[in-house]
Amino acid sequence: MRIDVVTIFPEYLAPLDLSLIGKAREDGLLTVTAHDLRDFTHDRHRTVDDTPYGGGAGMVMKPQPWAEALDHVVAQGDGSGGRRPRLVVPGPGGAPFTQSLARELAEEPWLAFACGRYEGIDERVYEYARDDLGLEVSVVSLGDYVLNGGEVAVLAMVEAIARLLPGVIGNAESLVEESHEDGLLEYPIYTKPKVWNGRSVPDVLLSGNHSAIAAWRHEQRLARTASRRPDLLHPAQVTTDGDLEVDL
Ligand code: ADE
Repeated sequence: MRIDVVTIFPEYLAPLDLSLIGKAREDGLLTVTAHDLRDFTHDRHRTVDDTPYGGGAGMVMKPQPWAEALDHVVAQGDGSGGRRPRLVVPGPGGAPFTQSLARELAEEPWLAFACGRYEGIDERVYEYARDDLGLEVSVVSLGDYVLNGGEVAVLAMVEAIARLLPGVIGNAESLVEESHEDGLLEYPIYTKPKVWNGRSVPDVLLSGNHSAIAAWRHEQRLARTASRRPDLLHPAQVTTDGDLEVDL
């Protein structure tokens, strides 16, 4: 997969050199290129923002440097079907970034991320990307809170996406049992020693009884999901008196 990121803070993306993502890049499974938006300005101050028409607080990112930056990114492909990036713009007003969206984006051969700062990017840039460059544009939010810009969101999204690419995670099975893969949160996990600080590992995990362990883990997942994320439970998973239905 190829990833381009346009930002006024390319240094923010340094963590993508590390750990699994750094290794995936070294192994050629992923290329990540950061572009400095200010390289596409033409004034002495390398200005990327201006005051909003209609008034209001804060500054808006100017369209011209964005258009040139996107032209530059797109020009690296041949402009045909798969040789055009899908454009992802992180922002608090976007569609939620979920595991299923991460899976969808992991199928794309090429992603371009546009990191807004200040109050955001002039709306005409989205129109330009769609209408003139023919890009699919997705505005995506990490959650219902406001960050200072898209860079931290890009770090989170690239990590969630890249770990789904074939070959990035050695043990692909570990991807299957995770929170958000099947709608339930993960069960609690333990390692040695059996007793630590006066606290024991639940007996069932030491029993060697695989079906009892599977049943216990499933109950734990339901209970945990009900307590931490009741919004994830399907009504059929909760009985009318509010108890959890353990046999799904
Ligand atoms: N930029 C600012 N806030 C954001 C959020 N919640 N998600 C993604 N990008 C953002």
